[in-house]
Amino acid sequence: MKISQHPRTSAPGTGTSTDDPAAAEAVFLDATLRLLEPLCVLPGETVVDVGPGAGSATVALAHAVGEPGCVYVVDVDAAMLDVTMETARAAGVAHRIRTVLHDIEDGMPPLPARADAVWSSWCVHHARDWDAAARALLGMLRPGGRICLAEGGLPARCLPWDTGIGRPGLEIRLDEAHDRHFTQWFFGRPGAARPGRGWDTILRDAGLTDITAFSALVDIPAPLSGPVRGVVLAELAARVRRAQPFLAEDDTAAWASLLDPGNAAWLGHRGDLALLTARTGFSGRKPEA
Ligand SMILES: C[S@@+](CC[C@H](N)C(=O)[O-])C[C@H]1O[C@@H](n2cnc3c(N)ncnc32)[C@H](O)[C@@H]1O
Repeated sequence: MKISQHPRTSAPGTGTSTDDPAAAEAVFLDATLRLLEPLCVLPGETVVDVGPGAGSATVALAHAVGEPGCVYVVDVDAAMLDVTMETARAAGVAHRIRTVLHDIEDGMPPLPARADAVWSSWCVHHARDWDAAARALLGMLRPGGRICLAEGGLPARCLPWDTGIGRPGLEIRLDEAHDRHFTQWFFGRPGAARPGRGWDTILRDAGLTDITAFSALVDIPAPLSGPVRGVVLAELAARVRRAQPFLAEDDTAAWASLLDPGNAAWLGHRGDLALLTARTGFSGRKPEA
């Protein structure tokens, strides 16, 4: 289900990269499941998924809590909650899930009870104040409860260093331009606070203890299958669109050729497209009262 078919309630820049987040999440599901492991979710527990996207982690959490358990999904975008519920219905676990339309920037969501565990992946970096968002995540937890925050990691490498189109190093310069875009977007919002340190320190300052970090490698070598190639092309196109104001003219032209299905240089024709990236999860525990 395409996100554009749903009414949106989020601010620009805070959603998923592409119009088909379920397809993207399927490619990253193996890494997501490995990042979920340190959360050690047990049957009967109450857990929260903040910023569920298309709900692939929500479904995994719903399986882990079993029949007596419950998963609250918290999102600022009603469309993401709709899509998550569609995913959950297809997986037969919708009855274990409660949706909460809430902006994490407004603090803790209105949950009926404190949770045993909180999971949030690729959501909190959208918040203007990462410290306040981390405190909100901790606020949802009971004493002794666990958090896993998936943020950071490494940018993806998908293209060879030299594609034969434009100058070599195209993807490296895209990373740089995209970082400049993110910095401008992030600080262009009133109230944006400079984080000034890494996620582990932010979580520690919010009150989390026993913090560990774990990175899951996503290593899908060439040649890519049709579905993975589709996701890689959609993600690259979205990245180029966002980074465009910061790209050199010749790089813009090279990307236009590489991303145009009507062009002989279209990336979709290539057998040397791969997906190599890493996703990091920061896990810890809220101290017992
Ligand atoms: C990039 S997607 C990540 C989806 C999924 N968790 C994953 O790892 O692929 C970001 C998600 O966080 C949600 N989100 C962004 N800002 C938010 C906020 N301030 N409060 C609640 N949800 C937010 C978006 O609507 C979206 O569902």
